[in-house]
Amino acid sequence: MSQKQLVDAPDDGGDTITSLNDNGFLIPNFPDGPGIEGVRSVRIRDDDVIICAFPKSGTHWVWEITRELLTGEITHDDVTMSQTFMEMVPEETYADLSCPRILNSHLLMKHLPDDVLNKKIKVITVLRNPKDVAVSYYNFLKMIPVAKYKGEFKNFLRPLFQGKFMYESWMDYVLDWELVKRTNPDQPVLTLFYEDIKQDQMREMRKICTFLGVERSDDFLSKVLDNTSLASMRTLKKRAESELVLEKVGGVGDWKNWFTVAQNEWFDQLYQEKMADCPLRFQYSL
Ligand code: A3P
Repeated sequence: MSQKQLVDAPDDGGDTITSLNDNGFLIPNFPDGPGIEGVRSVRIRDDDVIICAFPKSGTHWVWEITRELLTGEITHDDVTMSQTFMEMVPEETYADLSCPRILNSHLLMKHLPDDVLNKKIKVITVLRNPKDVAVSYYNFLKMIPVAKYKGEFKNFLRPLFQGKFMYESWMDYVLDWELVKRTNPDQPVLTLFYEDIKQDQMREMRKICTFLGVERSDDFLSKVLDNTSLASMRTLKKRAESELVLEKVGGVGDWKNWFTVAQNEWFDQLYQEKMADCPLRFQYSL
């Protein structure tokens, strides 16, 4: 039987963040969300591409880059990332989009439809260093009404990495996708890092083109580069959406303005304990 319940999880100062416990996994309480069972039953098409990322890792950015590279069109059509956000909107919202669709989710592989694995659907996972994710997530949760959060950053970090809030633990998320890749070596998964894209977007876009099996000229890639800069994305015609997600200035290393020395030492220790066997290396500054 399906079980859903609203949960108010306190930070270390007693301020709470509201999530939906959807059969044992915390997600945002999206008003029109299909729930995890609804996501599991989505009909996957053979040429779907899915962008998977922990929140605040650059999902919107990579979604837009991928859309332009895959379609070969710079112009913004009416499809937005929100329209294909699997746990936020009902399947009808994107069921009739012309192929190929670029879906996106912050869920784990086990929450996605079985056909993602059965049909060997292309998955692009986006990773960002966890310190900048934490700062970005804190500011985001304070901004979005569904979370109802008013807390201070000093009280946020510990429960965040204990997995008390929506989408739970960043570390479990990253380790889970690494396990998926190891146990399904023939699943096409491209792992991108936010910091790498910041550092050399042309190089990373060429990787995406190779992965998607499309050929795009350097001239076209330069246009995508211009069109997916922060400044350009702020003026997308989907303004309401972009304003919400681009409130802060995206970057690498902003965490240094937020973490205390003690928090940083605490986090590094936790990272060593939990991620000791993880081969991924994150960049905390450029
Ligand atoms: P900050 O909050 O650090 O500014 P997501 O799309 O997964 O929610 O990630 C949001 C983060 O990506 C935000 O980080 C946002 O500024 C950043 N971002 C979005 N578009 C970007 C772009 N075109 N270039 C660089 N960063 C971008």
